[in-house]
Parts: sequence; C-alpha cells; structure tokens
Amino acid sequence: MLVEVKDLTKRFGKLTAANGVHFSIPAGEAFGLLGPNGAGKTTTVSMMCGLVVPSGGDVVIDGHSILRDPMAVRRVIGVVPQDVALYPTLSARENLTFFARMQDVPANILASRVDAVLDIVQLADRQKDRVETYSGGMKRRINIAVGLLNQPKLLILDEPTVGVDPQSRNSILETLKELNRQGMTLLYTSHYMEEVEFFAPTSPSSTMAGSLQTARRKTCDFRPATRTLSVCSSSGKLTTPSATALRRCREWILSNSATR
Ligand SMILES: Nc1ncnc2c1ncn2[C@@H]1O[C@H](COP(=O)(O)OP(=O)(O)OP(=O)(O)O)[C@@H](O)[C@H]1O
Ligand SMILES: [Mg+2]
Repeated sequence: MLVEVKDLTKRFGKLTAANGVHFSIPAGEAFGLLGPNGAGKTTTVSMMCGLVVPSGGDVVIDGHSILRDPMAVRRVIGVVPQDVALYPTLSARENLTFFARMQDVPANILASRVDAVLDIVQLADRQKDRVETYSGGMKRRINIAVGLLNQPKLLILDEPTVGVDPQSRNSILETLKELNRQGMTLLYTSHYMEEVEFFAPTSPSSTMAGSLQTARRKTCDFRPATRTLSVCSSSGKLTTPSATALRRCREWILSNSATR
C-alpha cells in the first residue's frame, strides 16, 4: 500500500472534526474522499501532509510515518490546497520557481521542471503574466502545477475544481486523469460523486470509515481509442488536449524514479 491512514482523529476543543478515519490506497489508484461541508476532509488531508497534528492515529505514506518522519513524507507527496495559495503580483513562472526552491528542487533542473509543469497544466503561453490577471480556473491550474513540482508519488488535491467553470473543470479533470492513467496515485476530495466517477467509471467498492464517507474507485483503465478528451486551452478555446501536454504527462511519470 502506498498510503495507510489508521484511526486518524482530530479534536478541536469539544469538536471532533475527524473521528477514527481509516483507509488505505494502493499505488496507482485514484481515491475519492467525499463528504459535505464540514465533514472533515481538509482536516484529514492536512493531517496527512503534516500541517495539522493528529489527536490520535497515524498516517504512513510510502513506508514513512507522518508522526515520526514528516520530512520523508513531504518528499513523496504533492499538495494542492483547497484555497489557491499563490503570490498574485508574481507571474506564474516566478511563483513556480519560488515554490520549486522551497521544495528543494535541484538548481540545475529547476527551470526544466517549471517548464514541464507549465506544459502539463497548459499555461506555458501565459507564464509571464501576473497571477492576479488570471481567471479562477487558470489560478487553479497553477495551484496544481505547484503540487507537481517535486514529482510526487501521491498527489493530494483538496477540491481542486471549486469555483471554476465547466470548461476549466473539464480541463483540470482531464489532466488529473491523464496523470493517474500514467501511474500517479491521486487522493481527491470533493463534494461530488460525479467527479470521482470521472476518474473511474467502473463499479465502486465503497467503504464507510470513521466520520467521513469514503468511496474508493479502481484506477481507470481507458484505452486511448475509447477516451474522449476535450480540454480548455489557456486562451479559452475548446480544444483536444495537445500531444505535448499528454506526452509531458507520460514523460513525467516515467522520469519519476530517475530524477526524484
Ligand atoms: N483550526 C480549526 N479550529 C477549530 N475548528 C476547526 C479548525 N479546522 C477545522 N475546524 C472544524 O472542523 C470541522 C471540519 O472542517 P474541515 O475544514 O475539515 O471540513 P471540510 O470537509 O473540508 O469542509 P468543506 O467541504 O467546507 O471544505 C468543521 O466543523 C470546522 O469548523
Ligand atoms: Mg475543506
């Protein structure tokens, strides 16, 4: 198992935000963490990232305990927070360069790493523009690019499509599906079952765990010929995804073990 969440509990005073949450995720799977507002989704993923200290339980990712070795966990995860966390007066490229340095991406590969994530989220042509001039959907895509900078084994996304229009949402979901198809493990929180179904249109095996309703889906297994992909380009025009973007996704996964 790549991820094991064991009896994870968080109490804020008298409020129990997460109560004995328990699940595991095999490598390569897309895992949906579903629940309504206030269910404890953000609290749970924050504990998994080491941002919130659990009141009880543990999280083991790639063999490392978040309690005993949080730095080792952070090296193998990418995090896309619910609230867009970018510097608005910096350009997308400046933001990505800053976050890459924060994540200790080696200086000699930093520029190519930034190029790669810009290609994956299809915003290379707008990289020099200040983020404050971006649409909401474009900010969300750069937020995802930040999560990809360290080439994570596990990408944790906390409601990455909130507040974006259907075209941008489609673009984001297609990009994530491609990353998953190429082998990246995803943990995806959402209010919407349909978003999880998008990743894995096979019959679900559902489990109830702790105070969160979790639904687990098998990794999607689309053959290229049967996939219908349409994404929104940064210019707002509806296009099929560029071959470059899809190739970048593939290269990204294949180069994981070599360059991490
Ligand atoms: N730092 C905190 N201090 C006190 N209470 C908190 C804190 N963080 C979260 N909570 C509470 O924990 C509960 C779960 O919140 P959380 O943000 O995890 O829910 P969520 O499932 O992510 O909701 P949403 O879908 O609205 O994002 C809520 O009642 C919230 O008020
Ligand atoms: Mg939340």
